[in-house]
Amino acid sequence: MLDNKGFDLWADGYDLTVGISDEENTYPFAGYKEILGSIFRTIMEKPSATVLDIGFGTGTLTAKLYENGCPVYGQDFSKRMIELASEKMPDAHLYQGDFSQGLVEALQSRSYDFIVATYSLHHLTDDQKVRFLQSLLERLNEDGKILIGDVAFRTRTDLEQCQREVGEEWDDEEIYFVIDEMRQSFPNLIYQPVSYCAGILTLSR
Ligand SMILES: C[S@@+](CC[C@H](N)C(=O)[O-])C[C@H]1O[C@@H](n2cnc3c(N)ncnc32)[C@H](O)[C@@H]1O
Repeated sequence: MLDNKGFDLWADGYDLTVGISDEENTYPFAGYKEILGSIFRTIMEKPSATVLDIGFGTGTLTAKLYENGCPVYGQDFSKRMIELASEKMPDAHLYQGDFSQGLVEALQSRSYDFIVATYSLHHLTDDQKVRFLQSLLERLNEDGKILIGDVAFRTRTDLEQCQREVGEEWDDEEIYFVIDEMRQSFPNLIYQPVSYCAGILTLSR
């Protein structure tokens, strides 16, 4: 599993790697642009929505929201990712912190219309995901939503089939969402598949 230093090293080449994987429709980023675009459009339906981005990376999604007038908050543990995102969003409230330990204090003291997490939560175990998402639900405004775009599969059988097809490229250190298992903790979870290995999860209170 990459730590914050690993992400510091990946930061400058990140957008290129992701773009190539998406364009070639290969695991793990097949569907990336469509996922971010769909989340962007959902958020834009609410004028000036307040957005919290968990693991914002280079700010690909939140910078677009920022440019369109959304107040942006975020947490990421990579110093270099924060530098790159801050260049695009100088007035955003971006904090350094490990989300496996929860939200940093400054982000706990307010609530949000949307909490987004794209390709970041697969760094948590499933138990950690559930605990963290439960705590994030408490930070939503009325009618707020958590929108997660990530590698995901409806069932473990689907995950294992993709793992076999991908072979050596499969990343054993990442822990992907299995929707019917997550539904045991979040019965109202909505899943919209976007590619053969990824989709959008929506949670609300
Ligand atoms: C694959 S990138 C995704 C970036 C961006 N959300 C996107 O969609 O392109 C994962 C991001 O999550 C951050 N990250 C991973 N594990 C983290 C953790 N435990 N705490 C905080 N940030 C973390 C990394 O630094 C990186 O910026």
